[in-house]
Amino acid sequence: MEKIGVGYAYVSDIEKKYVNEALDASRLSQGKMVHRFEKQFAELHSQKYGIACNSGTSALHVGLEALKEKYGVKEDSDAEVLVPAITFIATSNAVMHAGLKPVFVDVDPVTYNINPAEIEKKITAKTIGIIPVHTFGQPCDMDPIMEVAEKHHLWVMEDCAEAHFATYKGKKVGSFGEIAAFSTYVAHTITTGIGGVITTNDRQMMEISRSLIAHGRACTCEVCLASDPTKVCPLRMQTEMDKRFMMVRMGYSYRVGELEGALGLGQLENRDIIMGNRKKNARYLTEHLQDLQEYLQLPAAPDYVDHSYMMYPIVIRKGSSFKREELTHYLEKCNIETRPMLPLLNQPIYKELFGDIEDEYPVAKWIDHNGFYVGCHHGLSKAQLDVIIDSMHKFLAEK
Ligand SMILES: Cc1ncc(COP(=O)(O)O)c(C=O)c1O
Repeated sequence: MEKIGVGYAYVSDIEKKYVNEALDASRLSQGKMVHRFEKQFAELHSQKYGIACNSGTSALHVGLEALKEKYGVKEDSDAEVLVPAITFIATSNAVMHAGLKPVFVDVDPVTYNINPAEIEKKITAKTIGIIPVHTFGQPCDMDPIMEVAEKHHLWVMEDCAEAHFATYKGKKVGSFGEIAAFSTYVAHTITTGIGGVITTNDRQMMEISRSLIAHGRACTCEVCLASDPTKVCPLRMQTEMDKRFMMVRMGYSYRVGELEGALGLGQLENRDIIMGNRKKNARYLTEHLQDLQEYLQLPAAPDYVDHSYMMYPIVIRKGSSFKREELTHYLEKCNIETRPMLPLLNQPIYKELFGDIEDEYPVAKWIDHNGFYVGCHHGLSKAQLDVIIDSMHKFLAEK
């Protein structure tokens, strides 16, 4: 039997058509496809600007560097950024890549997202911002987060890597903070293979981000970025040095090319199939695993959020007579792929960097040791979902 994986790339004729168009145009670096993808992606998340880049981690890093520039944060400021104690390691790594200090905040035991009630306890005179992470497609409780941010004059950058198109009280994730970072890595919902997108409504943030992903270029207009030989940027020759090749900040090489843009465009056209099937599959799993709730905590979303179900997270309840590994090993033997649920504070590298701090975060600790996820992606058939459901029932019947 084919493995029931956690991720899936749906490549339809639409993606193939756009990729072939890009190949036929003989332009592989950034061009029209990338710009169309960025524009559509941003619009679909209620934002003016989208900047495609080569990973979700780059998107986070650039977002942080842009915020630092906008607010004049000095390199040696010891500034602190609040991040949830449960997230993929890239969130807090990006804070360190930007020379800032991540300060962890415990998470909510039901949504697994940053717990707004814990945020204020972690704010110090050095705190400059908050990164709420919408884990697994479940939007964070944004009202109290925005309230506390406003009260303490902190910026908010949303990590939407796992939550394309999710909404909170009717508003798209990515449209609450000043800037947002998405990943389009293959296990995520809309994919370009590997990649990411920065979104923002702020023109200054867009210009800094565009410059940063392209070595720190002075001019980030579409003509210069796409090196369109048929057009000339009006600013190009206004200075002694051609503006296209003038570097004004320490930048990176985080761009993507036309093939990624073409894939992304196709995926956006298929978004209703992708998102619709995921939600349907997650609902089916919840419906048929309900009777195991005594042992397994299933995802639960309040009715004011639209969860985009990147994965299907499960946490073994306290007091259960079996360990997570017994269940996940059993599922793996049944050909069902499982992954631990975003362990962070107990990662060897974080223990080395931050010490043994897990006990200070009781909810995160419970999840680190008892949480895992299975797939609910758009490629799963009803028969495969039934294998997941039956295997969990069989395992628990033997306990
Ligand atoms: C919450 C979160 N943030 C950031 C990232 C980093 O994205 P990428 O793998 O595209 O760098 C991921 C990736 O899995 C993620 O889950």
